[in-house]
Amino acid sequence: MTLHIRNARILTLSGGDVPRRGAALGELGVIPAGDVLVADGRITAVGPGLTAPADTTVIEANGRVLLPGFVDCHTHACWAGDRMEEWAMKLRGVPYLEILKKGGGIHATVRAVREATQKQLAANLRDRLALMLREGTTTVEVKSGYGLTTEAELKMLRAIRRAAADWPGTVVPTALLGHAFEGDLDDYTRMVVKEMLPEVVKEFPDIAVDAFCEKEAWSVEACVKLFEKAHKHHPIRVHADQFNPLGMIPEAIRLFARSVDHLEASRKDDLIALAKSPTMGVILPCTGFHTDGRYARAGFFVDQGGAVALATNCNPGSSPVHSMPFAIALAVRHCGLTPAEAIAAATVNAAAVLGLKDRGRIEAGLRADLLLLHHKDERLLAYEVGGNPVEKVICGGGLV
Ligand code: NIG
Repeated sequence: MTLHIRNARILTLSGGDVPRRGAALGELGVIPAGDVLVADGRITAVGPGLTAPADTTVIEANGRVLLPGFVDCHTHACWAGDRMEEWAMKLRGVPYLEILKKGGGIHATVRAVREATQKQLAANLRDRLALMLREGTTTVEVKSGYGLTTEAELKMLRAIRRAAADWPGTVVPTALLGHAFEGDLDDYTRMVVKEMLPEVVKEFPDIAVDAFCEKEAWSVEACVKLFEKAHKHHPIRVHADQFNPLGMIPEAIRLFARSVDHLEASRKDDLIALAKSPTMGVILPCTGFHTDGRYARAGFFVDQGGAVALATNCNPGSSPVHSMPFAIALAVRHCGLTPAEAIAAATVNAAAVLGLKDRGRIEAGLRADLLLLHHKDERLLAYEVGGNPVEKVICGGGLV
Protein backbone atom coordinates (compact mmCIF):
# COMPACT_ATOMS: atom_id res chain seq x y z
CA MET A 1 0.00 0.00 0.00
CA THR A 2 1.30 3.45 -0.86
CA LEU A 3 0.00 6.51 0.95
CA HIS A 4 0.37 10.25 0.52
CA ILE A 5 -0.60 12.25 3.58
CA ARG A 6 -0.96 15.78 2.35
CA ASN A 7 -0.79 19.16 4.03
CA ALA A 8 -0.35 18.08 7.66
CA ARG A 9 1.18 19.82 10.65
CA ILE A 10 3.91 17.19 11.08
CA LEU A 11 5.55 16.54 14.46
CA THR A 12 8.64 14.76 13.15
CA LEU A 13 10.39 14.42 16.55
CA SER A 14 13.43 14.34 14.30
CA GLY A 15 16.95 15.64 14.98
CA GLY A 16 19.05 15.56 18.13
CA ASP A 17 20.07 12.67 20.32
CA VAL A 18 17.83 9.77 21.28
CA PRO A 19 16.64 9.50 23.98
CA ARG A 20 15.73 13.14 24.36
CA ARG A 21 16.77 14.59 27.69
CA GLY A 22 16.53 17.92 29.48
CA ALA A 23 15.57 20.93 27.38
CA ALA A 24 15.71 18.92 24.12
CA LEU A 25 12.71 16.86 25.24
CA GLY A 26 10.22 19.53 24.17
CA GLU A 27 11.57 19.95 20.62
CA LEU A 28 9.03 18.33 18.33
CA GLY A 29 10.70 19.14 14.97
CA VAL A 30 7.52 20.66 13.55
CA ILE A 31 6.94 21.02 9.80
CA PRO A 32 3.95 23.41 9.82
CA ALA A 33 2.56 22.28 6.43
CA GLY A 34 4.08 19.17 4.93
CA ASP A 35 3.52 15.80 3.31
CA VAL A 36 4.55 12.25 4.13
CA LEU A 37 4.88 9.42 1.62
CA VAL A 38 4.58 5.78 2.71
CA ALA A 39 5.37 2.62 0.75
CA ASP A 40 6.00 -1.01 1.78
CA GLY A 41 5.41 -0.27 5.43
CA ARG A 42 8.04 2.47 5.61
CA ILE A 43 8.11 6.25 5.45
CA THR A 44 9.75 7.10 2.13
CA ALA A 45 9.72 10.92 2.15
CA VAL A 46 8.85 13.81 4.46
CA GLY A 47 8.59 17.47 3.47
CA PRO A 48 6.46 20.18 1.92
CA GLY A 49 4.81 19.75 -1.52
CA LEU A 50 5.77 16.12 -2.29
CA THR A 51 4.44 14.34 -5.37
CA ALA A 52 3.44 10.68 -5.36
CA PRO A 53 2.83 8.02 -8.05
CA ALA A 54 -0.64 8.10 -9.66
CA ASP A 55 -2.11 5.05 -7.85
CA THR A 56 -1.25 6.32 -4.35
CA THR A 57 -4.04 6.68 -1.77
CA VAL A 58 -4.21 10.34 -0.74
CA ILE A 59 -5.14 11.39 2.79
CA GLU A 60 -5.93 15.10 2.93
CA ALA A 61 -4.89 16.34 6.38
CA ASN A 62 -6.07 19.94 5.94
CA GLY A 63 -3.55 21.22 8.48
CA ARG A 64 -4.33 18.65 11.17
CA VAL A 65 -1.54 17.17 13.29
CA LEU A 66 0.38 14.11 12.12
CA LEU A 67 2.67 12.48 14.68
CA PRO A 68 4.39 9.12 15.27
CA GLY A 69 2.28 6.28 16.69
CA PHE A 70 2.38 6.05 20.47
CA VAL A 71 4.74 3.57 22.07
CA ASP A 72 3.24 2.32 25.33
CA CYS A 73 6.45 1.11 26.95
CA HIS A 74 5.10 -0.27 30.27
CA THR A 75 1.97 -2.43 30.54
CA HIS A 76 0.71 -5.57 32.24
CA ALA A 77 -2.05 -5.93 29.63
CA CYS A 78 -2.12 -9.75 29.65
CA TRP A 79 -4.33 -10.89 32.51
CA ALA A 80 -7.40 -12.91 33.43
CA GLY A 81 -10.16 -12.25 35.97
CA ASP A 82 -10.96 -8.86 37.44
CA ARG A 83 -10.25 -6.84 40.58
CA MET A 84 -13.70 -5.37 41.27
CA GLU A 85 -13.78 -6.54 44.90
CA GLU A 86 -10.45 -4.89 45.51
CA TRP A 87 -11.61 -1.70 43.85
CA ALA A 88 -14.59 -1.55 46.20
CA MET A 89 -12.12 -1.89 49.13
CA LYS A 90 -9.91 0.80 47.64
CA LEU A 91 -12.88 3.15 47.39
CA ARG A 92 -13.48 2.56 51.10
CA GLY A 93 -9.89 3.71 51.71
CA VAL A 94 -7.90 0.46 51.98
CA PRO A 95 -4.40 1.09 50.54
CA TYR A 96 -2.99 -0.93 47.62
CA LEU A 97 -0.17 -2.52 49.66
CA GLU A 98 -2.61 -3.46 52.44
CA ILE A 99 -4.79 -5.37 49.96
CA LEU A 100 -1.67 -7.10 48.63
CA LYS A 101 -0.57 -8.04 52.16
CA LYS A 102 -3.96 -9.71 52.75
CA GLY A 103 -3.52 -11.96 49.68
CA GLY A 104 -5.49 -9.80 47.23
CA GLY A 105 -4.19 -7.45 44.54
CA ILE A 106 -1.49 -8.98 42.35
CA HIS A 107 -1.97 -12.34 44.14
CA ALA A 108 -5.61 -12.44 43.05
CA THR A 109 -4.60 -11.90 39.42
CA VAL A 110 -1.86 -14.55 39.73
CA ARG A 111 -4.51 -17.06 40.84
CA ALA A 112 -6.78 -16.14 37.91
CA VAL A 113 -3.93 -16.31 35.39
CA ARG A 114 -2.77 -19.70 36.63
CA GLU A 115 -6.31 -21.01 36.09
CA ALA A 116 -6.69 -19.50 32.61
CA THR A 117 -5.58 -21.25 29.46
CA GLN A 118 -3.01 -19.77 27.11
CA LYS A 119 -5.81 -19.31 24.56
CA GLN A 120 -7.97 -17.33 27.01
CA LEU A 121 -5.04 -15.12 27.98
CA ALA A 122 -4.26 -14.43 24.32
CA ALA A 123 -7.93 -13.61 23.61
CA ASN A 124 -8.08 -11.18 26.57
CA LEU A 125 -4.93 -9.44 25.43
CA ARG A 126 -6.17 -9.25 21.83
CA ASP A 127 -9.25 -7.31 23.01
CA ARG A 128 -7.08 -4.83 24.90
CA LEU A 129 -4.69 -4.39 21.97
CA ALA A 130 -7.66 -3.50 19.76
CA LEU A 131 -8.70 -0.76 22.20
CA MET A 132 -5.15 0.56 22.41
CA LEU A 133 -4.76 0.77 18.64
CA ARG A 134 -7.90 2.89 18.31
CA GLU A 135 -6.35 5.48 20.61
CA GLY A 136 -3.09 5.52 18.73
CA THR A 137 -0.86 2.93 20.36
CA THR A 138 1.03 1.17 17.58
CA THR A 139 3.76 -0.41 19.73
CA VAL A 140 3.18 -1.83 23.19
CA GLU A 141 5.31 -3.56 25.77
CA VAL A 142 3.46 -6.33 27.67
CA LYS A 143 4.91 -7.89 30.81
CA SER A 144 4.42 -11.37 32.19
CA GLY A 145 4.53 -11.51 36.00
CA TYR A 146 1.13 -12.95 36.88
CA GLY A 147 2.29 -16.57 36.50
CA LEU A 148 5.25 -16.76 38.89
CA THR A 149 5.97 -20.41 38.25
CA THR A 150 8.17 -21.33 35.32
CA GLU A 151 5.28 -23.01 33.58
CA ALA A 152 2.82 -20.17 34.16
CA GLU A 153 5.30 -17.45 33.17
CA LEU A 154 5.97 -19.32 29.92
CA LYS A 155 2.21 -19.67 29.39
CA MET A 156 1.84 -15.90 29.69
CA LEU A 157 4.76 -15.13 27.39
CA ARG A 158 3.44 -17.57 24.78
CA ALA A 159 -0.03 -15.98 25.04
CA ILE A 160 1.54 -12.55 24.51
CA ARG A 161 3.38 -13.87 21.44
CA ARG A 162 0.16 -15.43 20.11
CA ALA A 163 -1.89 -12.23 20.50
CA ALA A 164 0.93 -10.20 18.96
CA ALA A 165 0.86 -12.30 15.80
CA ASP A 166 -2.73 -11.17 15.05
CA TRP A 167 -2.18 -7.46 15.71
CA PRO A 168 -0.98 -4.98 13.08
CA GLY A 169 1.20 -3.17 15.64
CA THR A 170 4.25 -4.42 17.49
CA VAL A 171 4.14 -6.15 20.87
CA VAL A 172 7.35 -6.32 22.88
CA PRO A 173 7.17 -8.92 25.69
CA THR A 174 9.02 -8.45 28.97
CA ALA A 175 9.71 -11.17 31.54
CA LEU A 176 8.55 -9.72 34.85
CA LEU A 177 9.94 -12.59 36.88
CA GLY A 178 10.24 -10.60 40.09
CA HIS A 179 6.62 -9.61 40.70
CA ALA A 180 4.84 -9.81 44.09
CA PHE A 181 4.61 -13.49 45.14
CA GLU A 182 3.47 -15.44 48.20
CA GLY A 183 6.16 -17.37 50.08
CA ASP A 184 9.80 -17.07 51.12
CA LEU A 185 11.66 -14.43 49.11
CA ASP A 186 15.08 -16.11 49.32
CA ASP A 187 13.73 -19.44 48.08
CA TYR A 188 11.72 -17.79 45.35
CA THR A 189 14.66 -15.65 44.17
CA ARG A 190 16.92 -18.70 44.06
CA MET A 191 14.35 -20.57 41.96
CA VAL A 192 13.91 -17.63 39.58
CA VAL A 193 17.66 -17.21 39.06
CA LYS A 194 18.47 -20.92 38.75
CA GLU A 195 15.42 -22.30 36.98
CA MET A 196 12.91 -19.76 35.70
CA LEU A 197 15.27 -17.28 34.04
CA PRO A 198 17.23 -19.95 32.09
CA GLU A 199 14.00 -21.61 30.90
CA VAL A 200 12.43 -18.32 29.83
CA VAL A 201 15.47 -17.07 27.93
CA LYS A 202 15.80 -20.40 26.10
CA GLU A 203 12.51 -19.59 24.37
CA PHE A 204 12.70 -15.77 24.46
CA PRO A 205 16.41 -15.07 23.98
CA ASP A 206 16.38 -11.25 23.73
CA ILE A 207 13.74 -10.56 26.30
CA ALA A 208 14.05 -7.77 28.88
CA VAL A 209 13.90 -8.83 32.54
CA ASP A 210 11.93 -6.85 35.12
CA ALA A 211 11.20 -6.89 38.87
CA PHE A 212 8.94 -5.02 41.31
CA CYS A 213 11.12 -3.58 44.07
CA GLU A 214 8.73 -2.74 46.90
CA LYS A 215 7.61 -3.76 50.39
CA GLU A 216 5.42 -6.91 50.05
CA ALA A 217 7.27 -7.67 46.80
CA TRP A 218 11.01 -7.85 45.97
CA SER A 219 13.75 -6.36 48.14
CA VAL A 220 16.68 -4.45 46.64
CA GLU A 221 18.94 -7.44 47.46
CA ALA A 222 16.67 -9.90 45.63
CA CYS A 223 16.43 -7.60 42.59
CA VAL A 224 20.22 -7.25 42.52
CA LYS A 225 20.63 -11.06 42.58
CA LEU A 226 18.30 -11.41 39.59
CA PHE A 227 19.76 -8.50 37.66
CA GLU A 228 23.39 -9.49 38.25
CA LYS A 229 22.55 -12.73 36.53
CA ALA A 230 20.42 -11.18 33.76
CA HIS A 231 22.02 -7.88 32.84
CA LYS A 232 24.92 -9.09 30.71
CA HIS A 233 22.58 -10.63 28.12
CA HIS A 234 19.25 -8.90 28.67
CA PRO A 235 18.01 -5.36 29.08
CA ILE A 236 16.87 -4.94 32.66
CA ARG A 237 14.04 -2.78 33.90
CA VAL A 238 12.74 -2.27 37.39
CA HIS A 239 9.60 -1.00 39.13
CA ALA A 240 10.99 1.20 41.88
CA ASP A 241 9.80 3.80 44.38
CA GLN A 242 6.10 3.27 43.63
CA PHE A 243 5.16 3.55 47.33
CA ASN A 244 8.46 3.44 49.25
CA PRO A 245 11.94 4.60 48.26
CA LEU A 246 13.91 1.45 49.09
CA GLY A 247 17.21 2.49 47.49
CA MET A 248 16.89 0.63 44.18
CA ILE A 249 17.82 3.57 41.93
CA PRO A 250 21.61 3.56 42.66
CA GLU A 251 21.70 -0.20 42.04
CA ALA A 252 19.72 0.14 38.80
CA ILE A 253 22.21 2.76 37.60
CA ARG A 254 25.19 0.57 38.62
CA LEU A 255 23.72 -2.36 36.68
CA PHE A 256 23.00 -0.21 33.57
CA ALA A 257 19.25 -0.80 33.75
CA ARG A 258 17.40 0.33 30.65
CA SER A 259 14.78 2.04 32.82
CA VAL A 260 13.49 2.65 36.31
CA ASP A 261 9.70 2.81 36.24
CA HIS A 262 7.18 4.51 38.59
CA LEU A 263 9.27 7.02 40.66
CA GLU A 264 6.23 8.37 42.56
CA ALA A 265 8.02 8.15 45.92
CA SER A 266 11.59 8.81 44.75
CA ARG A 267 13.96 10.90 46.86
CA LYS A 268 15.29 14.05 45.27
CA ASP A 269 18.94 12.89 45.31
CA ASP A 270 17.97 9.60 43.65
CA LEU A 271 16.10 11.45 40.90
CA ILE A 272 19.15 13.67 40.33
CA ALA A 273 21.46 10.63 40.13
CA LEU A 274 19.06 8.91 37.71
CA ALA A 275 18.85 12.05 35.57
CA LYS A 276 22.63 12.13 35.22
CA SER A 277 22.82 8.44 34.23
CA PRO A 278 22.06 6.65 30.94
CA THR A 279 19.14 4.84 32.63
CA MET A 280 15.77 6.27 31.63
CA GLY A 281 12.88 7.12 33.95
CA VAL A 282 9.40 5.88 32.99
CA ILE A 283 6.44 7.68 34.54
CA LEU A 284 3.02 6.05 34.91
CA PRO A 285 0.57 8.79 35.93
CA CYS A 286 -2.57 6.67 35.36
CA THR A 287 -1.46 4.74 38.46
CA GLY A 288 -1.65 7.76 40.74
CA PHE A 289 -4.99 8.65 39.15
CA HIS A 290 -6.46 5.22 39.98
CA THR A 291 -4.79 4.56 43.34
CA ASP A 292 -3.80 7.39 45.64
CA GLY A 293 -3.19 10.65 43.81
CA ARG A 294 0.61 10.51 44.02
CA TYR A 295 2.61 11.34 40.87
CA ALA A 296 6.26 11.24 39.79
CA ARG A 297 8.06 14.59 39.66
CA ALA A 298 8.94 14.30 35.99
CA GLY A 299 9.36 18.07 35.47
CA PHE A 300 12.08 18.14 38.14
CA PHE A 301 13.71 15.02 36.64
CA VAL A 302 13.79 16.62 33.17
CA ASP A 303 15.19 19.87 34.60
CA GLN A 304 18.07 17.79 35.99
CA GLY A 305 18.76 16.48 32.46
CA GLY A 306 16.83 13.20 32.79
CA ALA A 307 15.48 11.12 29.89
CA VAL A 308 11.83 10.42 30.63
CA ALA A 309 9.28 8.17 28.93
CA LEU A 310 5.55 7.90 29.54
CA ALA A 311 3.31 4.82 29.59
CA THR A 312 -0.18 3.72 30.69
CA ASN A 313 0.85 0.83 33.01
CA CYS A 314 -2.36 -0.87 31.80
CA ASN A 315 -3.16 -3.52 34.44
CA PRO A 316 -6.21 -4.66 36.43
CA GLY A 317 -5.03 -3.36 39.81
CA SER A 318 -3.31 0.00 39.74
CA SER A 319 -4.16 1.31 36.27
CA PRO A 320 -7.10 -0.06 34.28
CA VAL A 321 -6.24 2.34 31.46
CA HIS A 322 -5.32 1.63 27.84
CA SER A 323 -5.25 5.21 26.54
CA MET A 324 -1.99 7.02 25.83
CA PRO A 325 -3.84 10.34 25.25
CA PHE A 326 -5.16 10.03 28.80
CA ALA A 327 -1.64 9.32 30.11
CA ILE A 328 -0.46 12.46 28.28
CA ALA A 329 -3.27 14.53 29.80
CA LEU A 330 -2.28 13.36 33.30
CA ALA A 331 1.48 13.79 32.77
CA VAL A 332 0.85 17.44 31.89
CA ARG A 333 -1.56 18.08 34.77
CA HIS A 334 0.27 16.20 37.53
CA CYS A 335 3.89 15.38 36.59
CA GLY A 336 5.11 18.77 35.42
CA LEU A 337 5.63 18.01 31.73
CA THR A 338 4.59 20.39 28.97
CA PRO A 339 2.34 18.96 26.22
CA ALA A 340 5.34 18.85 23.86
CA GLU A 341 7.48 17.02 26.45
CA ALA A 342 4.71 14.51 27.12
CA ILE A 343 4.38 13.80 23.38
CA ALA A 344 8.13 13.16 23.08
CA ALA A 345 8.01 10.97 26.20
CA ALA A 346 5.21 8.91 24.61
CA THR A 347 6.92 8.44 21.23
CA VAL A 348 10.65 8.88 20.62
CA ASN A 349 11.71 8.25 24.24
CA ALA A 350 9.31 5.39 24.81
CA ALA A 351 10.73 3.67 21.71
CA ALA A 352 14.21 4.12 23.20
CA VAL A 353 13.12 2.33 26.40
CA LEU A 354 12.23 -0.68 24.25
CA GLY A 355 15.48 -0.42 22.24
CA LEU A 356 13.53 0.23 19.01
CA LYS A 357 15.44 2.55 16.70
CA ASP A 358 13.06 2.33 13.74
CA ARG A 359 10.10 4.26 15.17
CA GLY A 360 9.00 7.09 17.42
CA ARG A 361 9.95 9.72 14.81
CA ILE A 362 8.77 10.67 11.33
CA GLU A 363 11.78 10.24 9.06
CA ALA A 364 12.39 8.54 5.71
CA GLY A 365 13.33 4.89 6.25
CA LEU A 366 11.51 4.44 9.56
CA ARG A 367 8.48 2.22 10.12
CA ALA A 368 5.28 3.95 9.04
CA ASP A 369 3.40 4.11 12.34
CA LEU A 370 1.56 7.42 12.12
CA LEU A 371 -1.40 9.15 13.75
CA LEU A 372 -3.56 11.84 12.23
CA LEU A 373 -5.35 13.78 14.97
CA HIS A 374 -8.70 15.54 14.74
CA HIS A 375 -6.84 18.63 15.93
CA LYS A 376 -4.68 21.30 14.28
CA ASP A 377 -2.92 22.08 17.57
CA GLU A 378 -1.13 19.22 19.34
CA ARG A 379 -1.62 20.82 22.75
CA LEU A 380 -5.24 19.66 22.53
CA LEU A 381 -3.95 16.12 23.01
CA ALA A 382 -3.22 17.06 26.61
CA TYR A 383 -6.02 19.60 27.05
CA GLU A 384 -9.02 17.48 26.11
CA VAL A 385 -9.84 14.51 28.32
CA GLY A 386 -12.18 11.58 27.78
CA GLY A 387 -12.58 11.56 24.01
CA ASN A 388 -10.42 10.03 21.33
CA PRO A 389 -8.26 12.66 19.61
CA VAL A 390 -7.04 10.17 16.99
CA GLU A 391 -8.79 10.34 13.63
CA LYS A 392 -6.67 7.92 11.61
CA VAL A 393 -4.10 5.29 12.57
CA ILE A 394 -1.52 4.13 10.05
CA CYS A 395 0.27 1.09 11.38
CA GLY A 396 3.16 -0.60 9.57
CA GLY A 397 2.17 1.41 6.49
CA GLY A 398 -1.46 0.21 6.49
CA LEU A 399 -4.49 2.35 7.23
CA VAL A 400 -6.21 0.73 10.21
O1 NIG B 1 3.21 -1.40 37.97
N1 NIG B 1 3.34 -2.55 40.93
C1 NIG B 1 3.51 -3.56 40.32
N2 NIG B 1 2.88 -3.90 39.20
C2 NIG B 1 1.80 -3.14 38.65
C3 NIG B 1 0.52 -3.41 39.32
C4 NIG B 1 0.01 -4.74 38.96
C5 NIG B 1 -1.29 -5.08 39.60
O2 NIG B 1 -1.72 -4.43 40.57
O3 NIG B 1 -1.86 -6.06 39.12
C6 NIG B 1 2.18 -1.67 38.62
O4 NIG B 1 1.52 -0.81 39.19
